Amino acid sequence: MALLDVENLTVRFDTPEGEIHAVNGVSFTLDKGETLGIVGESGSGKSQLNFALLGLLARNGRTGGRAMFDGLNLLDASARQLNAIRAKRIAMVFQDPMTSLNPYMRISEQMAEVLMLHKGLSKRKAVEESIHMLDAVRIPDAKNRVRLYPHEFSGGMRQRVMIAMSLLCHPEILIADEPTTALDVTVQAQIMELLADLQRDFNMATILITHDLGVVAGFCERAIVMYGGRVMEEAPIDPLFEKPTHPYTRGLLDAIPRVDQGQDALRAIPGNPPNMAGAPKGCPFAPRCGFVTERCWAETPPLVAFDGARARACYRPIEEVAA
Ligand SMILES: Nc1ncnc2c1ncn2[C@@H]1O[C@H](COP(=O)(O)OP(=O)(O)O)[C@@H](O)[C@H]1O
Ligand SMILES: [Mg+2]
Repeated sequence: MALLDVENLTVRFDTPEGEIHAVNGVSFTLDKGETLGIVGESGSGKSQLNFALLGLLARNGRTGGRAMFDGLNLLDASARQLNAIRAKRIAMVFQDPMTSLNPYMRISEQMAEVLMLHKGLSKRKAVEESIHMLDAVRIPDAKNRVRLYPHEFSGGMRQRVMIAMSLLCHPEILIADEPTTALDVTVQAQIMELLADLQRDFNMATILITHDLGVVAGFCERAIVMYGGRVMEEAPIDPLFEKPTHPYTRGLLDAIPRVDQGQDALRAIPGNPPNMAGAPKGCPFAPRCGFVTERCWAETPPLVAFDGARARACYRPIEEVAA
């Protein structure tokens, strides 16, 4: 049985301009210790999908579908049930650590608080454990630096603190939402390497959310590609890169900058991300798709499994689309 089993998850937002369909029937499973990438351009519904799992949607948001975790449907769990799961069994790391760290509290206080609350440790034990965790994320001189405030760390070090904080209770699932997007390239690589080491050491299932297929390649065993709040393609990493079968995945792959190409050779997918207002009709990628057919405008292609571990939502035959 999967550790997390998400079925037909939807997220809608009520706005004065009408309903926003941010996530439209997403299904996936996550096994114990597995690394799953969720990739897609900005606005494709990646973050809202995961906020929905932890009951973190904005107040105008509503969810539908199911997300089973240890016998509990997270989507209709009570606030109390979710409080017992968040941070403790399913933890999240965000792009900007300052949104999760309290700027007015020493790191020691913030980390210890988590352990005192969720594990009932004494203050002294909790600070000790926090220092261990800062060591684990390779913050030099953790023993002294635990007393600092968030702003006294660099961006990369602050993200390490955030990661340390998320791991305090040894969660079964870590959700990392664009964990390196705000950092410069060298620091990005260091943080991804650290995350990969920790993922192995702690044997946690990890969902890595990113707009960057390159980041997914180095970290994940499997990925789902999202567009317009839908899953366009799902595959183990190697086949996804070797033989993408969805036009959108192909577009993303072509847009990855390569060392052997000049800057002007960099191809972005033409067109803009979809407007999520109103009920979607047809394939969300149709307006930007080089393989579009009449049917794509009228009907939404369902996600169809093939080759065992793969799935795609596209009406074009695989041979026509695959690179
Ligand atoms: N509170 C909200 N009210 C209305 N729309 C929202 C709200 N929060 C997010 N959205 C919309 O949901 C869509 C998906 O957003 P998101 O999941 O954050 O994208 P991603 O993480 O893939 O960049 C976007 O179109 C965004 O504008
Ligand atoms: Mg996001």
